Amino acid sequence: MKAHQPYQLKEHYFVSCPKGLENLLLQEAQEVGFRHCEIANSGVICTGYNEKALELLLRTRFASRIFKQIYQFTISKEKDLYFLARNIKWKTYFTPEQSFKIKTTLSPCPETKRRSPYTNPLILSQIFKDGLVDRFRDDFNERPSVEKISPDISIHLHVTPTLNEKTDTVIVSLDLCGEPLSNRGYRHPQAAAPLRENLAAALGQSIELQKPLYDLMCGSATLLIETALAEHNIPASYLHLLHQQDPWIFKNTLWFKKDPYLIDNFKKLKAKYRQQAQQKLAQIDQQSPSYFGFDQDPKAVALAQEQVQIAGLQSIIRISQQDALKVRPQSQNGTILSNLPYGVRLEQESEDLEQLYYQLGEHLKAMFKGWNAYLFMEQAPLMKKIELKGDRKLIFYNGQLECRLIRYRLF
Ligand SMILES: C[S@@+](CC[C@H](N)C(=O)[O-])C[C@H]1O[C@@H](n2cnc3c(N)ncnc32)[C@H](O)[C@@H]1O
Repeated sequence: MKAHQPYQLKEHYFVSCPKGLENLLLQEAQEVGFRHCEIANSGVICTGYNEKALELLLRTRFASRIFKQIYQFTISKEKDLYFLARNIKWKTYFTPEQSFKIKTTLSPCPETKRRSPYTNPLILSQIFKDGLVDRFRDDFNERPSVEKISPDISIHLHVTPTLNEKTDTVIVSLDLCGEPLSNRGYRHPQAAAPLRENLAAALGQSIELQKPLYDLMCGSATLLIETALAEHNIPASYLHLLHQQDPWIFKNTLWFKKDPYLIDNFKKLKAKYRQQAQQKLAQIDQQSPSYFGFDQDPKAVALAQEQVQIAGLQSIIRISQQDALKVRPQSQNGTILSNLPYGVRLEQESEDLEQLYYQLGEHLKAMFKGWNAYLFMEQAPLMKKIELKGDRKLIFYNGQLECRLIRYRLF
C-alpha cells in the first residue's frame, strides 16, 4: 500500500510545559499575539506568524520547548515513515553538512485513549532517519550525519493513534530551542533537588505576593529568583541576552537563515528585551532586600548565594543559614513560599520528615500570625502532618510527581 502524502504545516507550533502550567502558558502565548492558541496535554498549540514564536522564546517563563510543526501525515505501518521522510524537501530546512538527531514520542489517542500499535520509538526514529538520509542522497549525493548530544538540527516526531482504528497521525517538528528554555543560565550544576525554573515561576505566579517573601527551605533559591524576575518584569531569557549568547538551535535552520525579515525582526526583539532587562536590573540595584531565603544546609546557602549573584538579584534577595523552625518574621504581614523536602529525592528519613512537617505547622501557627504561607508538597501523608487548614490547593507536576501548592492563612 502506498503511504499518504505529507501535508505541509506553515505556522503551527507546539509549546511544551510541565503538566499543570498549561493555563499560564496559554496566557503568555496569547499576550505575544498568536492568532489562535489552545491548551493541549503538557503544552499549548499555537498558530500565527513565525516571529511570534521567536518572541515567545525570548519572553516565556513557563514553556519548556517550542516546536515548529512542519509536516503532518498518517501511517498504517512502520515502513510508511520511510517513504514519507523521503518525500519531504529537507533541503529547505538544512544542508548535508549539518548534523541532526530525531526523537520520537508516542501518545495515546486523546479521545479514545487507544495506544499506538508501535511501542519502540527508537525503531520509528531509525526508519524515518533512513528515509531522510536517502532523500539527501537523492538531492545531493551526500548525507548529513547523526549527532545525539548537540546536533545542528533537532527533529521531533509525535505519533498518536487516529480515531480510525488502523492509522496513526505523525507530526514532524523542528525543536527551536536545543536546550530547554527553563535553563535561564543561573543554575549551578551541583544544586540538590532544585525545582525546574519554569515550575518555580508558575508557583511564584500563583501566590498573592505581599512582601517580604520568605522561603524557609530555599535550597538553591529558585523560587525566590523566579518570583523576583516575574515581579520586576525581567524577560526570562535575560541572561542569554545580556551575555550576547544565542543558545537557540533554530538559528541553524534554513527556515530562519533564509528569511531576512525573520532575522531582522529577531535582532530587534533581542535588543528590545535586552534593554528592558538592563533598565529593570538597574532599578533593582537601588532597592533594599525584600526576598529572604533560609536553609539549614551551609552548602545549599553557598550555592543559593552564588545563583542569586549570577542572576543579578543580590540587592533584593538575602540568603541566610538558619533552621526554618527558628526563623522569626521581621514584619506583621508577609508571604511564605516554600518547596518542602519530599524524601523521595533527598532520601531523608520519613519519620524525620513527618516530624519536620508537624513542627513547621506549629511554628507557622505560633510565629507568623498575619502572614500567608504557600507550601509546595508531594505525598498526602506528610501534608497531613501540618495541623493547619489550607484554604486553596493547586496541582502541579514536578516531573512525574503530582504535587500540591497549598495556601494557609495564618490568623
Ligand atoms: C526540596 S529542597 C528545596 C529546593 C529549592 N526549592 C530549589 O529549587 O533549589 C528542600 C530544602 O530544605 C532544606 N531543609 C530541610 N530541613 C530544613 C530545616 N529544618 N530548616 C531549613 N532548611 C531545611 C534542605 O537543606 C533543602 O535544601
